[in-house]
Amino acid sequence: MAPKSNYTKITTHVLQEMKLKGEKISMLTAYDFSMARLLDEAGVDVILVGDSASNVMAGHTTTLPITLNEMIYHASSVMRAVKRALVVVDLPFGTYQGDSKEALISAIRIMKESGANAVKLEGGQEVLESIVRILSAGIPVMGHLGLTPQSIHKFGTYVVRATEDAEAKKLIEDAHLLEKSGCFSIILEKIPAKLAATVTDEIKIPIIGIGAGANVDGQVLVLHDMLGITQKFSPRFLRRYHNLSEEIKGSVRAYIKDVKDLDFPNEREQY
Ligand code: KIV
Repeated sequence: MAPKSNYTKITTHVLQEMKLKGEKISMLTAYDFSMARLLDEAGVDVILVGDSASNVMAGHTTTLPITLNEMIYHASSVMRAVKRALVVVDLPFGTYQGDSKEALISAIRIMKESGANAVKLEGGQEVLESIVRILSAGIPVMGHLGLTPQSIHKFGTYVVRATEDAEAKKLIEDAHLLEKSGCFSIILEKIPAKLAATVTDEIKIPIIGIGAGANVDGQVLVLHDMLGITQKFSPRFLRRYHNLSEEIKGSVRAYIKDVKDLDFPNEREQY
């Protein structure tokens, strides 16, 4: 059984301590008040207000369309619920890539208007200037390497990344750059487990994996995927803890039947 401490509030410093102690970090996405409250009460360490909201909340096929205002709306809802977890918010596509000044303005808006604890952005050397500028304002930054869904049109597919030597080498270099710049943690998405283990070994800040194997400092999953609310998305790395889509549909069907059969409401359910 892995060690588990009793932290009352998770901060970036606590995550660093957890890495040093070998305690794994648990992280899940949330986008609204009710779910965030359940996750926080259950004791998850980090809540990511991911731009995957673009897919699972808004129904887009990629993460690209979601706006900064929409991310702030989701993040504010989450922040009203959370007492213990560290809340990290994705900077959406187009709000940080080209211009470090715009990146800083976007990050400041997220922090000021939602009250979140940190921001996350995708990429390495290409976005380093933006990362440094955001960090200089005292805003904690989480990096994201490997499969970076905001670049889907560049990659063309969601297959495993960094299987070739050149891409693996760049990923390791980028991880070192992010660490040196002052990022407090890095997400590694869908890369070979061996490469993720090497990065986790070489880099002193916590490395959180999604489809990156077991030898990292923590794991993250998209809530709707692990609860089985999404049905078609089934990558190998996804463990489903529930089949909520069937449970929800079953409850809704039962309700429809009760209404149609004049069974709901009954005597005790009215005034
Ligand atoms: O947006 C998101 O949910 C993410 C996770 C896949 C890490 O970035």
